[in-house]
Amino acid sequence: MTKRVFIKTYGCQMNVYDSARMADVLHPLGYRPTDTMEAADMVILNTCHIREKAAEKVYSELGRLRLMKDARRRQGDDMIIAVAGCVAQAEGEEITRRAPYVDIVFGPQAYHRLPEMVARASRAGATVLDTEFPAESKFDYLPEDGAAPGPSAFLTIQEGCDKFCTFCVVPYTRGAEFSRPVAAIAAEARRLVAAGAREITLLGQNVNAYHGAGPTGEMGLGGLVRELAEIAGLERIRYTTSHPRDMDDDLIAAHGEVPQLMPFLHLPVQSGADRILAAMNRRHGADDYLRLVDRLRAARPDIALSSDFIVGFPGERDAEFEATLALVDAVGYAQAYSFKYSPRPGTPAAAEEAQVADDVKAARLAALQAVLGRQQDAFNRSTVGRSLPVLIERSGRHPGQLVGRSPYNQAVHVTAPPTLIGKIARVTIRATSAHSLRGILDGAAAGTANHLAERTPA
Ligand code: SAH
Ligand code: SF4
Ligand code: F3S
Repeated sequence: MTKRVFIKTYGCQMNVYDSARMADVLHPLGYRPTDTMEAADMVILNTCHIREKAAEKVYSELGRLRLMKDARRRQGDDMIIAVAGCVAQAEGEEITRRAPYVDIVFGPQAYHRLPEMVARASRAGATVLDTEFPAESKFDYLPEDGAAPGPSAFLTIQEGCDKFCTFCVVPYTRGAEFSRPVAAIAAEARRLVAAGAREITLLGQNVNAYHGAGPTGEMGLGGLVRELAEIAGLERIRYTTSHPRDMDDDLIAAHGEVPQLMPFLHLPVQSGADRILAAMNRRHGADDYLRLVDRLRAARPDIALSSDFIVGFPGERDAEFEATLALVDAVGYAQAYSFKYSPRPGTPAAAEEAQVADDVKAARLAALQAVLGRQQDAFNRSTVGRSLPVLIERSGRHPGQLVGRSPYNQAVHVTAPPTLIGKIARVTIRATSAHSLRGILDGAAAGTANHLAERTPA
């Protein structure tokens, strides 16, 4: 009998990957994805614990779900409610206390055991809780015949983090760093390409710390990228998120040598002040980061950079915030995310006395975002007039419109036939708006077919 599962995903791309795997794991049990929560027999919230706001959203969503579950029960039916991901890992016990109607709570490393948990939940009167870090790896237990990935797919190659930045919950919610073997990753990549993926984004909380078992010993991320570039039909490779300390020579060189490796890198710096970087336990200074940017640009001159920033870290003075602005100025980002520092329970920085007042954080965030917004705008405008290879991913909101990505990870809107979905088309950029570009197919006016790009030399 067909049942419906609704999965709501919060947080990072690794959660997006995990949600898709949960759907795969539930498929043999008869569960098919639905996009209406009300119609679902099971609802999974795949949660994020990174900032307080992200975590609190879960409890308000659970309040709404409780009403739906009650309504279903009055009809003699039921709805299974499950909480997965990093809030489940960090606050499993608290969820069972604050929301006892939740049927299943499980952490990011346990979802391969979902079938068993679902069976136990229908027998048990109480919440089934599985937030262990099991000795076996979930990756060895995931089905190989998942749903079609689409032109751009995610592939988790590394999990967990041993860096322990003093603001961050990830080492606690995802556990110790672990790299999947090269052969398993290559096999999954080949399956994704056979199922239609043209681009693969390699994922890890600290992806460039990758050190998986290869055919002749351990292999770093640069080696893995070169290995995957051999797969016919895989046109584009990206990876995220990287730590500046783990950008080694081989990976930097790969940016200049592997044409499939896209000229875009998300390289979070968090702050431009050495004292704050040290207090964050980032293990590098502002100058180290700037030198790294120089080396990347020497290897791949057009590489577009992105970053994450935290403003108002405990003890951050005005001059230290100014140092962050100076670093932004020196780098010139194509895109960036910035956040007010959010104290997270159990992390060292949360216990600091010198917490920064919220209005100071808000003012610094606004100032930083203004500068980053101008840089993003300038970068987007610099691509106007250029012909770029765009991987067309899906239909847009307007009739006849398709949406794809440039090599620099910009969203590009273009009017084109839907047969181009999944192909790389040459598009001349005509205009920019806040978060996307608009262009026209090369050769479209003449009605010729030369808009299809041969390869992707950016
Ligand atoms: N692994 C990545 C980041 C993972 S979390 C890295 O090493 O950079 C994504 C981003 O969330 C971080 O880069 C940071 O900017 C932000 N973040 C993490 N913890 C935070 C906190 N307590 N308050 C505000 N922002 C935070
Ligand atoms: Fe968190 Fe990233 Fe630091 Fe790891 S490296 S602790 S994931 S911010
Ligand atoms: Fe959030 Fe967990 Fe990702 S805390 S950012 S979902 S690793």
